[in-house]
Formats: sequence, C-alpha cells, structure tokens
Amino acid sequence: MNILITGGAGFIGSAFVRMLAHERSDWKLVVYDKLTYAGNLANLKEVEGKYEFIKGDIADREKIHNVLREHEIDQIVNFAAETHVDRSIMSGLEFIETDVLGTYNLLAEAREKGIQKYLQVSTDEVYGSIAEGKWTEESPLLPNSPYAASKTGGDLQVRASFQTYGQPVIITRASNNYGPYHYPEKVIPLFITNLLENKKVPLYGDGMNMRDWLYVDDHCRGILAVLEKGNIGEIYNIGSEEELTNLDLTNIILKELGFGSEMIEPVKDRAGHDRRYALDSTKMQKLGWAPQVSFAEGIKTTIAWFKANEAWWKPLKDGTYQEYYRQQYQERK
Ligand code: NAD
Ligand code: TYD
Repeated sequence: MNILITGGAGFIGSAFVRMLAHERSDWKLVVYDKLTYAGNLANLKEVEGKYEFIKGDIADREKIHNVLREHEIDQIVNFAAETHVDRSIMSGLEFIETDVLGTYNLLAEAREKGIQKYLQVSTDEVYGSIAEGKWTEESPLLPNSPYAASKTGGDLQVRASFQTYGQPVIITRASNNYGPYHYPEKVIPLFITNLLENKKVPLYGDGMNMRDWLYVDDHCRGILAVLEKGNIGEIYNIGSEEELTNLDLTNIILKELGFGSEMIEPVKDRAGHDRRYALDSTKMQKLGWAPQVSFAEGIKTTIAWFKANEAWWKPLKDGTYQEYYRQQYQERK
C-alpha cells in the first residue's frame, strides 16, 4: 500500500508516520508537507529512511497531481492544516487557504486519480461548544473560532464529495491531543516548557473552560482503525472521556514539576473562547478502539519527554515564535 500523509511533519501527522513505520512496515509512506512554522522534519528523525518526503502545499493542485502519479498513491490521510485558535483570531486567511481551499484541491485531485480512500483528520471544534452532554457525529456544526470555521469548511467539502460524486472519503473528529513533539504554543507544551524555564503560565479567563484530553498515540491508533475498518462516507468521533478544566490541568502540570499556584498568571480571556468540548466516541468503540493511555500516565510521559528534549523545543520558543508570543502576551496582560 502506498499512502500519502499530508501534514506528516506536524505534531499528530508525525506521530502517525512514526507509528506506521513500525506497525505497517510493508507500506510505502510518502510525507507531503509545506513545512510551515509548525512542520518540522526533526519530528521524523526516529524513522529516517522509512519514509519519503516531498515539500509542498496541499493547495498546489499541479504538484499534488504529479505526486499522486509519481508515487502511485493508493490512499491519503490529510493532517495538513493551520491549527492554532489564537493565530486564527489574529489572522484567518491562511486557515481558509489551507483548511478549506487546500482540502478542496486535495480532494479534487484524489477523485481524478481514483484514490481508494481519503481520510480527513478533523476536530471536535467544528461542533462549537457544549454545556452538557456529548456530541455525536450527527450533532450540528456550529464553529465559533476562525480555525474551527475553516476546519468545518474542509469537512463540508469532504461530505459534499461523497454526496455528489460518491468519492470514497471518511472524516475523523478528535478531541484535544497532547504528547511528545507538540508545538509549544498549545497550552500543555507551553505550560510545561514555561515552567522548565522558570516562567509563569498564562491561564486565560477564569480557567473553567473544559477540554477532553487524548494522548496523541491513541488518536493515531484510532485513525488507523478508521482507515482500515471504517465505513466510507461516515464520520467518527475520537475522544478520550478524560475531561479537565484548564485550572485542574494547570494544577496537575504545576504539581508534576514541583511548583505551586504562584506560577499561574491569570490573563485576559481568548475572544469567543469555547467553554467545553465533549465527544461521544461510541462509534469508535464499535470498531474495537479504546484509548490505552490515561491522562495520569500520558502527562507524565509528556513532561518527561519535554525535560529530555530541550534541544527540540528551545529553538521553537525563540525567533519568530518569540515575536508571536510576545504580541499575544502583551495583549492579554
Ligand atoms: P500542527 O499545526 O502541529 O501541524 C500541521 C502540519 O501541517 C505541519 O507540519 C504543517 O507544516 C503542515 N501544513 C500546514 N499547511 C500546509 C499546507 N498548506 N500544505 C501542506 N502542509 C501544510 O497540527 P496538528 O496538531 O498535528 O494537527 C493535525 C491535524 O489534526 C489538523 O488537521 C488538526 O485540525 C487536527 N486535529 C488536531 C488536534 C489537536 O489537538 N492538535 C485535535 C483534533 C484534530
Ligand atoms: P489550546 O491548546 O490552544 O487548544 P484549543 O483552543 O484548540 O482547545 O488551548 C486549550 C485550552 O487552554 C483553551 O481553553 C485555551 C486555554 N489556554 C490558556 O489558558 N492559556 C494559553 O496560553 C493557551 C495557549 C491556551
């Protein structure tokens, strides 16, 4: 099987490539990635020689057209996206270019080539915010951030390609991921690395927003299960049912690193901040999937990884990231 993994140099895409390199070693793995600020070939160092890499944009139709033929691609898993809510609030255009137009172009080329299966990796954020209960795959799509709106646009293009052309597509929608190689702008790696640098952690608003935290390898196992056993044209929610308020999450990280609440810096809330995400993953259970890593275990592994891999994250917190973060922080203080 020849599989194209778009966005395979990012946080989750690279975990998927590392997993396939071990668990599906007879597959030909082709990683296609634009290498934006979030893409990093160091994420794939452990599996060097076990994949082929092509630098490219999913919105570049001609390039995709050629890659699908040159590498005789059978299936596509699309991780490529702009992914950070705070960045989307500052400027949403790149989100539309990649998450909507890029998805559209990739889908259109996949259809023209007769790709056997196209899996779109999506997010629970397309459903909006839920005060009580859990979202099923039939819940309405009510995105609130420019990021979530652009992911919804991509999902709807995938749906339309099935309804209109009968294209063999599947969508997965996962909850918040965490784990090794997580870019240090997202809350968990940001807080861990700040504390490792003896800096305070900026907690938005009242800290009572809730997220369901899924260990990245559990997500990847879920995507593989859907790719191999899921039904064409369907959607699969992938959640961990490990809900935490941001304040509880922060306290766990503080405790693990030997700090107290004096390291919390309350800052202005995010605009349009979704209060709670919660997924019903019954359909995934029917495929035989269940998360294997508890939050208690996963956060320890993640913290240990960041402690041991300063050389990976330190440079990411300098340079352009530093400027982005300075702006964010000044606005919120
Ligand atoms: P990430 O930001 O770490 O990585 C995104 C990757 O896509 C990077 O390697 C980047 O270079 C690449 N990319 C961006 N634009 C591209 C383009 N136009 N063409 C080709 N490559 C491009 O993101 P992530 O956290 O690994 O998320 C991967 C996918 O999973 C996204 O689609 C995201 O919406 C979805 N998702 C993420 C989470 C989460 O908690 N991180 C949860 C659910 C779903
Ligand atoms: P984030 O990691 O950006 O993921 P998402 O917005 O996609 O869920 O944020 C997770 C939660 O943490 C969210 O409720 C916002 C909050 N947060 C902070 O309190 N401080 C921060 O510095 C960041 C980045 C996020």
